[in-house]
Amino acid sequence: MSYSLNGWPESVVPVQSISNSGITEIPAKYIKPPTKRPSLESLETKVDIDLCIPVIDISPLIGGSDNTDEVTHAISHACKEWGFFQVVHHGVTPDLVQKMKDVWREFFYSPIDAKKIYANNPTTYEGYGSRVGVDKEAILDWGDYFFLYLLPESTKNLDMWPKLPPNLREITEKYGEEVMKLCKVLIKAISKSLSLDESYMLKAFGGDDIAGTLRVNYYPKCPQPELTLGLSPHSDPGVITVLLADEHVKGCQVKIGDSWVDIKPINGAFIVNIGDQIQVISNAIYKSVEHRVVANAQSERFSFALFCNPRGDMMIGSAPELVDPLSQPLYNPITFDEYRVYVRTRGPLGKLQVESLKAA
Ligand code: OGA
Ligand code: NI
Repeated sequence: MSYSLNGWPESVVPVQSISNSGITEIPAKYIKPPTKRPSLESLETKVDIDLCIPVIDISPLIGGSDNTDEVTHAISHACKEWGFFQVVHHGVTPDLVQKMKDVWREFFYSPIDAKKIYANNPTTYEGYGSRVGVDKEAILDWGDYFFLYLLPESTKNLDMWPKLPPNLREITEKYGEEVMKLCKVLIKAISKSLSLDESYMLKAFGGDDIAGTLRVNYYPKCPQPELTLGLSPHSDPGVITVLLADEHVKGCQVKIGDSWVDIKPINGAFIVNIGDQIQVISNAIYKSVEHRVVANAQSERFSFALFCNPRGDMMIGSAPELVDPLSQPLYNPITFDEYRVYVRTRGPLGKLQVESLKAA
């Protein structure tokens, strides 16, 4: 199979326009094969089991407390057992979070012509889009998004950020700065939790040039949520992801064993998850975990995924400190620029991408 990154294989239709047209049956392009459907009934029973990802109060990390052992331990446990956790007392103000939600809702609610100016392509993904991957045969996901580059400065292209509403750029920049600051605090703590020097990972991922991108996800109402997904199973390719999710509308699910477990976002919290680069650098002591988004017939949903990524040309392999001296590192080193071509061409594919790095 050959892939091209020059353009989309067919014209891109925003899911929002399909949803707004009032159809009662979704187009065939969105209907997943039976084994990949979300089986909504079984999810209800899972809720009874009430598995919850850990919630961690990180105020000692934010306040610069001398006593961070307990938080570091909680992070270590969450990374080992779940790959996902929620953080509270993270220092990003509720006001900024609310403004972020407001400006982006306004953008997605604006007329299609105002959004189409930012239509993206599969080379950079920057802009307004509705598909990931360029395989023409792919069954599509029920969601639209806006993707942009925040940091380092050299990657930021404000022309591709929506001009309207007028305060969107300023608020998004501020949000990006604050959440990237939080990412650095978390990456230091994760480093420490593996008994590495606290700056070990930040350095390995590019130091001051560590990258940040933002994906604003919009999942319109779906008349047949049992047949499709808002976002197919995947692990995040980068270092860590900080997700701001609607606390009223569930949707994101994490794969624990063979079950899909709902994340119930807490008001004011961020959901944090480990990306593939931490799985690689930690030699799989911590693993990125598959997650997906289910569609919803009653409510639309927005989410904001800030991906903290390595600088594109940093070669990332397992930290020698974490590899048993009697064995080989589990993964072959690769740069992030090379790594991300995989998902950009093939679309979300569970954990196949990180597994492709396994040393023979
Ligand atoms: C993502 C993601 C989850 C969500 O954008 O990578 O996993 O709830 N999003 O939108
Ligand atoms: Ni994700």
